[in-house]
Amino acid sequence: MADYETHRHDVLVIGAGGAGLRAAIEASASGVSVGLVCKSLLGKAHTVMAEGGIAAALANVDDRDDWRVHFADTMRGGQYVNNWRMAELHAKEAPARVRELEAWGAVFDRTPDGRILQRNFGGHRYPRLAHVGDRTGLEMIRTLQDRGVHQGIDVHMECTVTRLLVDDGRVVGAFGFDRPRGRFKVFEARAVVLATGGIGRAYKITSNSWEYTGDGHALAYAAGADLMDMEFVQFHPTGMIWPPSVQGILVTESVRGEGGILTNKDGRRFMFEDIPEAYKGQTADNEEEGWRYTQGDKAARRPPELLTRDHVSRCIVREIKEGRGSPHGGVYLDISWIKKRLPNAEEHIKRKLPSMYHQFKQLADIDITREPMEVGPTTHYVMGGVRVDAETQMSTVPGLFAAGECAAGINGANRLGGNSLSDLLVFGRRAGEHAARFARESGPGRIDPARVDVAARQAVEPFERGDGHADGPYRVQRDLQEMMQDLVGIVRTESEMRRALEGLQGLWERSRRVPVDGNREYNPGWHTALDLPNLLTASEAVTRSALERKESRGAHFREDFPDKDPASAKFNVVVRKAADGVMRVERVPIPEMPPELRQVIEEMK
Ligand code: FUM
Repeated sequence: MADYETHRHDVLVIGAGGAGLRAAIEASASGVSVGLVCKSLLGKAHTVMAEGGIAAALANVDDRDDWRVHFADTMRGGQYVNNWRMAELHAKEAPARVRELEAWGAVFDRTPDGRILQRNFGGHRYPRLAHVGDRTGLEMIRTLQDRGVHQGIDVHMECTVTRLLVDDGRVVGAFGFDRPRGRFKVFEARAVVLATGGIGRAYKITSNSWEYTGDGHALAYAAGADLMDMEFVQFHPTGMIWPPSVQGILVTESVRGEGGILTNKDGRRFMFEDIPEAYKGQTADNEEEGWRYTQGDKAARRPPELLTRDHVSRCIVREIKEGRGSPHGGVYLDISWIKKRLPNAEEHIKRKLPSMYHQFKQLADIDITREPMEVGPTTHYVMGGVRVDAETQMSTVPGLFAAGECAAGINGANRLGGNSLSDLLVFGRRAGEHAARFARESGPGRIDPARVDVAARQAVEPFERGDGHADGPYRVQRDLQEMMQDLVGIVRTESEMRRALEGLQGLWERSRRVPVDGNREYNPGWHTALDLPNLLTASEAVTRSALERKESRGAHFREDFPDKDPASAKFNVVVRKAADGVMRVERVPIPEMPPELRQVIEEMK
């Protein structure tokens, strides 16, 4: 142990996006010492890609909103396989978390009478997203970061954790290395919170940046925790598709929230053609009514572009497959059309969507105030993750907590836009609070030096492979991304997923042979080689879970089982590592919802 740089914290938080920061703030406020590990620089987090807003039933714009409507919307969006207790806590606590963020310095857009402004988003019945133009996630990270740093949290930047340290079934710390120098670090901790975000880099087209390689999912899985709902991967309907170098970059749903429409190459608003049963009656069937809704007419019904993401993505794929796509293989998203309706449209677009205006101007030479954008689905979020207790966020392994995207439960089969930011505030706070309590109530764990040595040996093993003929790490990663995109993407079939499982077998073997050159000082090839097992674990979990769910629900669409199966609404799919090291899949029954919550859902229908 003397050979390793060692840090001691009561609570170690791995991941410094919104969930990690909020957990760290809460734990630190309760008086325990907190370490916060970020894979890249502090402030660089996928949280900033939740651009459009934070969903919370503040009822500032429509006073009919309250936690019950938000709860019912979240359950309906998740197609009723959500952890209903998490959905309830989330809907009840989100408004307080938003006000708290405001008190800590977040500068929200305002209603004319000075309250936090809220906008429309897909699947939310009322305007519910508290926002800062189209930079809400960025403002949230700025605010939390400021708060956390001033609270005395120890930040370990550019640090990758490769293993959780377990003693007698309890998590007692973590092993990792600093990316610039490659020096090993041992973190001793009484409790660990995972807040590492998602798995987007397992797919070729994604809004996620390089950090999102399923690290938390894989660390938890290796430590013996359950992963749940991994079949549900969210493909956000609107990513950039052109030029190729920017493919996948997010085009915020706020464009549609502000009145943007989707059209095919024939100029048709194809979203009018397919309204799901659960949303009939609340969805406009003509342009006029949809526009009135956007302008705040409470009697009007919302435009079909604001249906849930899973549905909108599938409609876009249908248009493209049937030959009605745009020149670069997407569809058109048009906000410039509002000029026909709004005298100050150009100024309005630049004020409400400043990032989108600049993003398209600079990256694609498109002026969105004058011309439509070309867009297509992009892998954005995973609903699946570490299975946690709803109240405490503790996983099935004592001492190990998870929050935000890397935890499962609240979103069920599909997440509503904006629920991620409120999720990470509500459950980040809960994870921090309960991890701190666990740390206070537990003695220090014992770290076995032999296990640390094994972790260190495994980390440097890629340097010792020396097989000049084996594929390098980037090629293996690229082949994985292409395979997952093609075979376990938006539309799935049994035969394709079986092929993916075989492909994963081959990729696992190749990943164990990838050679790495050079030394441990900032070596991206080495870093990628160490990311591969995480990406493969996450991809295998997605594929095995998707094979197990023999129906279509939310983001999981199977061409061979195109309908929902009522019997499948009664379980979640869970994977865990069996004693023989093999990934086991299990159906875990969803507990009965209490009658009062069932009644809320009935009333909202
Ligand atoms: O489209 C967006 O602004 C993304 C929001 C979210 O993922 O919650």
